[in-house]
Amino acid sequence: MNDSHLILGVDIGGTSIKAAVVDTSRGALTTAVLRAKTPQPATPKGVIAAIGELAKRLKWRGPVGVGFPGLIKHGVVRRAPNLDASWVRHEIVDHLRRALGVSFAAVGNDADAAGLAEARFGAGRGVRGTVVLVTLGTGIGSAVLHNGSLLPDTELGHLEVGGQDAEKFASTVARERNKWTWEQWGRNVDRYLTTLEYMLAPDLFIIGGGVSAEPEQFFRYLENVEAKIVPATMGNDAGIVGAALFAVPGVKALARKRKRTAP
Ligand code: BGC
Repeated sequence: MNDSHLILGVDIGGTSIKAAVVDTSRGALTTAVLRAKTPQPATPKGVIAAIGELAKRLKWRGPVGVGFPGLIKHGVVRRAPNLDASWVRHEIVDHLRRALGVSFAAVGNDADAAGLAEARFGAGRGVRGTVVLVTLGTGIGSAVLHNGSLLPDTELGHLEVGGQDAEKFASTVARERNKWTWEQWGRNVDRYLTTLEYMLAPDLFIIGGGVSAEPEQFFRYLENVEAKIVPATMGNDAGIVGAALFAVPGVKALARKRKRTAP
């Protein structure tokens, strides 16, 4: 059997690191999801050692794709607002390759990973036009896709609305920290999404993060948004599947090809 479509997908989160082997041709996990606690402080050394342990438990020596909660350019971390400050300027791709003893590792943004996965296999499957996915969790992550192709590294969770970073009033952590009701928070999310809509005119918004499991709590307050809004459908798997997709050569080109031949 040709196993070239099997890739280890790793999702680095603020509280846990999750990994599973992914069949990237189907967007399906082929092993259980293994978890490790994100070390505190979440330094490069600690986090990469934890990923190494997970790979070892899965007996994995093949290609690896990682979703990272920050901005990476050319294999180097530029920003990681919710991890340890020592990540900035860290050569994450080289470090991973060496630590895991693998010849190929690809790293990208965690929300881009979720966006790619949802666009190919989940809530955005087959959707033409512009799709914006936002993950409302510890931070806010964003993924912008057009006809299935990703515009990477958008970082729209830090858009300032009314002079305030969106993460400070529309993330799940902001809701918990400020003890806002779902309605108070939902109206904040509405304000955030209407601002994004004004700038990007998406055809579809996908809401990811833990709250995608309870849309009945706040979707009714998203009343000023004109685009269709749907919850993500792949749950935690989206981050892992999308991370694995980062390691598939030409994944964006493939997405374009698939869409063009669609009816
Ligand atoms: C980071 C993003 C990340 C998001 C979700 C934000 O604070 O800037 O890069 O996607 O959190 O983890």
